[in-house]
Amino acid sequence: MGFYERAVLPRVLNAACGTKAVEPLRSRVCRGLAGDVVEIGFGSGLNVPFYPASVTRVAAVEPSDTSWRLAAGRVRAASVPVQRSGLDGESLPFGDGSYDAALSTWTLCTIPDATVALAEVRRVLKPGGTLHFLEHGLAPDERVRRWQRRLDPLQKRLVGGCHLTRPIADLVTAAGFTITELDVFYEPGTMKATGADSLGVAVTPCQH
Ligand SMILES: C[S@@+](CC[C@H](N)C(=O)[O-])C[C@H]1O[C@@H](n2cnc3c(N)ncnc32)[C@H](O)[C@@H]1O
Repeated sequence: MGFYERAVLPRVLNAACGTKAVEPLRSRVCRGLAGDVVEIGFGSGLNVPFYPASVTRVAAVEPSDTSWRLAAGRVRAASVPVQRSGLDGESLPFGDGSYDAALSTWTLCTIPDATVALAEVRRVLKPGGTLHFLEHGLAPDERVRRWQRRLDPLQKRLVGGCHLTRPIADLVTAAGFTITELDVFYEPGTMKATGADSLGVAVTPCQH
């Protein structure tokens, strides 16, 4: 990993993803989280202030040491214990069925293999466990999709491997989850190509 990915990009993401404008979205996606939670792509901990009181502890999975350092203040101020517990969403160091819920915000775009990561999340969730997700991905409109395909190579180079064209709901369903809530929308104040968001909750089967 070069200097840009290691030291610059985490700070850029902390600022770009930490705007007031997205706080209502973070609040919405965290609503209903309960029990032991694993958050993949924890970043600089921007979701921490939105964890509801029903959360008992959070296992943070985040490869970037810089992001984890940027999260320190939020982790200290958290109302629940938050521990950095893993480095890679594609390989979670937890037993099967060990978490009640999982949280992923603007992370499935960046994890190299989102299918593998979602299979891991499903594995570590208890039967009936929930995945709360807020992700940008493939837009609902073909005109926007064309722009996404054009911009994808640049986005990947500049934003640490971030893809614009991943079909989020399809990926979640293909991993064996049932989506129980889904809102697909363009994020206000953001270019449609980078702001085609899917916010939802998906549940694992009651029997693994
Ligand atoms: C756009 S940032 C979003 C951060 C945070 N979830 C948020 O909402 O502010 C994407 C995050 O995914 C992390 N990431 C990249 N590859 C990953 C992987 N294989 N497993 C887990 N997280 C990863 C990055 O380090 C980064 O913190």
